Amino acid sequence: MPTLGVNIDHVATIRQARQTVEPDPVAAAVLAELGGADGITVHLREDRRHIQDRDVRVLRQTVRTHLNLEMAATEEMVNIALEIQPDYVTLVPERREEVTTEGGLNIVGQQSWLTEVVQTLEAAKIPVSLFIDADSAQIEASATVGATFIELHTGRYAEATTEAVQAEELALLDQGCQQARALGLRVNAGHGLTYWNTYPVACLAGMEELNIGHTIISRAVLVGLERAVRDMKGVIWGRHGAIESQG
Ligand code: PXP
Repeated sequence: MPTLGVNIDHVATIRQARQTVEPDPVAAAVLAELGGADGITVHLREDRRHIQDRDVRVLRQTVRTHLNLEMAATEEMVNIALEIQPDYVTLVPERREEVTTEGGLNIVGQQSWLTEVVQTLEAAKIPVSLFIDADSAQIEASATVGATFIELHTGRYAEATTEAVQAEELALLDQGCQQARALGLRVNAGHGLTYWNTYPVACLAGMEELNIGHTIISRAVLVGLERAVRDMKGVIWGRHGAIESQG
């Protein structure tokens, strides 16, 4: 089954609401790891609306699993990644006015720039993941620019309002995963995954890591982060009863 990368951006969002020092995403990362997180994911946005440069620096020193740095494919962010040396980088599209990352990155439309970015990072031994829709042309372009991973955008699957549409979206994720693996890419997935819709994605053949944030931090507000992470690990492993039985 895939590993779990816990996205802790929302912890920093609460802190930034008061421009103070609590809650500290560094403490959240420790608790997430104690709960069984296999990796910690943070998105350093250009507008620094939640995660700050200091967070990424301290997390690099304290994370015991692996650190996935989500960022835009800009020169500023590439330089920060080269300095910090996360275990891998996920390149995401960024628009200032968005509430969260909306669509996948357009690889087809910026192949030469992305080739340069991927080469620079991979030459520094930082594997690169590209956050894309499960679209055949984008997957092919991801292999062409030399990425190690793709992260399939699960937003459309998560937002499906009927079982039929959800099944169609899951089939597209499955096809995308198989196409990518045939091209030699490793495959992660994320966005909009919850305690109720994650298991079918976790079961897709060849899926390596799921990056999940909102649903885990939402549950953590009520039951604590360690338990929220443990519950999600239970979902990924098909132990649905884990959610009810850990009282
Ligand atoms: N993967 C990527 C690339 C993302 O940008 C996000 C949101 O920050 C996530 C996964 C996690 O999404 P969610 O918070 O909906 O679980």
